Amino acid sequence: MEYIDDPVFSGITPFEKKIYLASPTMHGDEQKWVNEAIRTNWVSTVGENINVIEKTVAEYVGVKHAVALSSGTSALHLATKLAGEKLYGKALPFEGTLRGKKVFCSDCTFGASGNPIAYEDGEAVFIDTEYDTWNMCPKALEKAFELYPEVKLVIVVHLYGTPAKMNEIKAICDRHGAMIIEDAAESLGAEYKLNGEWVQTGSIGAFNCISFNGNKIITGSTGGMFLTDDSDAAMKVRKWSTQSREDAVWYQHEEIGYNYRMSNIIAGIIRGQMFHLDEHIAQKKALYERYEEGFKGLPVKMNPWDKENTRPNHWLSCMIIDRDAMTSQVRGKCDFLYRRENGKSCPHAILDALKAFNVEGRPICKPMHMQPIYTSNPFVTANGSIRGKDTDHLNVPSVDVGADIFQRGICLPSDNKMTPEQQDVVIDIIRRCFEL
Ligand SMILES: Cc1ncc(COP(=O)(O)O)c(C=O)c1O
Repeated sequence: MEYIDDPVFSGITPFEKKIYLASPTMHGDEQKWVNEAIRTNWVSTVGENINVIEKTVAEYVGVKHAVALSSGTSALHLATKLAGEKLYGKALPFEGTLRGKKVFCSDCTFGASGNPIAYEDGEAVFIDTEYDTWNMCPKALEKAFELYPEVKLVIVVHLYGTPAKMNEIKAICDRHGAMIIEDAAESLGAEYKLNGEWVQTGSIGAFNCISFNGNKIITGSTGGMFLTDDSDAAMKVRKWSTQSREDAVWYQHEEIGYNYRMSNIIAGIIRGQMFHLDEHIAQKKALYERYEEGFKGLPVKMNPWDKENTRPNHWLSCMIIDRDAMTSQVRGKCDFLYRRENGKSCPHAILDALKAFNVEGRPICKPMHMQPIYTSNPFVTANGSIRGKDTDHLNVPSVDVGADIFQRGICLPSDNKMTPEQQDVVIDIIRRCFEL
């Protein structure tokens, strides 16, 4: 209420219908394939929709095999488990395949990227972020290999649909004989110039994953896929995801299994959505560019990307406030506090103002090394490990890039159904936050 009544926002009225961060966008084609599944009675985890989307997505991304699963998280779990088995051998039924092993993982991401390391009894070593793309910092990765040369697996995220620096990351991993898993959950359709050739994210690592969660660039309400060129790996994931049944007439099990396969109904929605993927990417790109233009003159920058070597899918538009335009903002466990200062602002002031006008935004991902569950895991920056070397009290600029982006950054409403007129109001609200 405080914001609506503030004279700074006079003339702006709250949106009647909420403007979302990123909500599903259905087109009608989806219904046809869902109906078809019901009409033909293939209401199961087998069926034509699953077959079709596995083929379509594999072709689109440029990999030989795609396995449709119940979520991006299940795809990441099986990718991580399989990588562990390839690297360290089969585990006993009560053990994970990464038992006692360290795995490098992007730090600035959603928890689902690195949790599978723990599911498989491994220890995540979080690698700091770089300012150029907000993804894994190649310099920090190199440092991490100096500290932990035994590591053989690296999970790389393409945050918010912007590809990570895969040329550098892949070269470092190749030099150290490490395998890559790409978490392309957010980046379906994003492209990267790998050694001079354009490829899709999700085709670069040995085992890769995408998500069809309700907030993603296209959705099945839920769902995910495991992507690979390795036919044995695809076969193994398909088997694990359907309870690891052996080829017998009774239920015969020689390995631990999971119920991770995608439903043919969900696959029907995704089958219809695939026709609209490129259109969604174009809409997201237009939103990003309109924000960029609309924020001219404000002390903020958009989330950056390499214009020569990448074509992001622009799943989420984000911004970061210049350091000297930040008001004080402190965060507790689940709460926050900030000061109002004219000419300055901070993520929570902007998010509160947006909320007052019925608009959804979100802070940037809280880095994994700052999450209570992972505070005892190693964390490596471009300057090496900074665990136990807190310099805040010395007033020395932090080298913890992820923490800095978390402190100053915001995910902007990026719903592809937002009209230019609505977006102009959102931009206007944000501009006025600097006049509070
Ligand atoms: C980076 C990232 N990894 C993994 C996931 C997990 O995907 P899902 O929600 O489909 O399980 C998500 C999002 O949901 C994500 O954003």
